[in-house]
Amino acid sequence: MQITRKPPVRTSLKPSNHPYLSGPWTPVHEEVDVNELQVIEGEVPADLDGIYLRNTENPVHQPLGRHHPFDGDAMIHAVSFRGGRASYRNRFVRTHCFETEQDAGGSLWGGLMDPPGTSKRPGFGAHGGLKDTASTDIIVHAGLALATLYQCGEAWQLDPVTLENLGKASWGPLDGVSAHPKVDEATGELMFFNYSKHAPFMHYGVVDRAGKLVHYVPIPLPGPRLPHDMAITPNWSILNDMPLFWDAGLLERDIHAARLHDGVPTRFALIPRHGQPEDIRWFELPRLTCCTGPTPTRTGIPWCWRAITRTSRCPIRWRKRANTAT
Ligand SMILES: [Fe+2]
Repeated sequence: MQITRKPPVRTSLKPSNHPYLSGPWTPVHEEVDVNELQVIEGEVPADLDGIYLRNTENPVHQPLGRHHPFDGDAMIHAVSFRGGRASYRNRFVRTHCFETEQDAGGSLWGGLMDPPGTSKRPGFGAHGGLKDTASTDIIVHAGLALATLYQCGEAWQLDPVTLENLGKASWGPLDGVSAHPKVDEATGELMFFNYSKHAPFMHYGVVDRAGKLVHYVPIPLPGPRLPHDMAITPNWSILNDMPLFWDAGLLERDIHAARLHDGVPTRFALIPRHGQPEDIRWFELPRLTCCTGPTPTRTGIPWCWRAITRTSRCPIRWRKRANTAT
């Protein structure tokens, strides 16, 4: 096993007993390549050939205010398997904000828990006051790894094997790209959504297998929302409009406090993959739900939608089966 260390990044983070900055949550600041990982138990299957990518929230600088675990900078961890051997490397995603804070030597943006005005620079994404960290999600499309942020930001590209940073995707629209885009491996297309505080409040897009934005349409919503995820079938894309979103009164004071709105329905939009707003079919769920994570499936297989209710102080999760026409 040989470890190669990269030049260190600048960090201003101080040791802390904060529950999300200590113990198993202690941030990692070293970037390394490790070949021929030691196998501690069993063996690596000889025919396993591929790479496992994981995006993590990994803060580099001392927070300006209160730290929230969603505030960290993106670090990608990769384990590659080939010929019965495994190797590892990790790299920060060098977003524009990451590089700007490296130059400054400290935090320039506040976090999710901070009051308005904490950030020293204009923010990004649907929230508008946060750093574009790209620390939520990672997928591979058109031969490139894409790291994205839950509040919408640029889609930051990396070589999925070397983790070399390749800059932001040229197809990213003005309102950004939310975490949880989906790739159809049969066609090579990528489907994504974004959301914002201005009408129409959501957009949906398709990027082809060559990395070109070929479809981008508004998904009109009643107001600012906090959609989490989406799902795809071979013919349809499924977007959501949930009753968990920012309090409108507080939002007027630039306070971003999410709350569950009683009496507001849970809605799902089914849009043909390359459909127009007038093609959308909206479905409502009678029960109050707030946050979802789909299980994408192929034609003919029911997809599952995980939902969280407010019937308990500790949210209950269940899977609601629904057959969708594809
Ligand atoms: Fe998520």
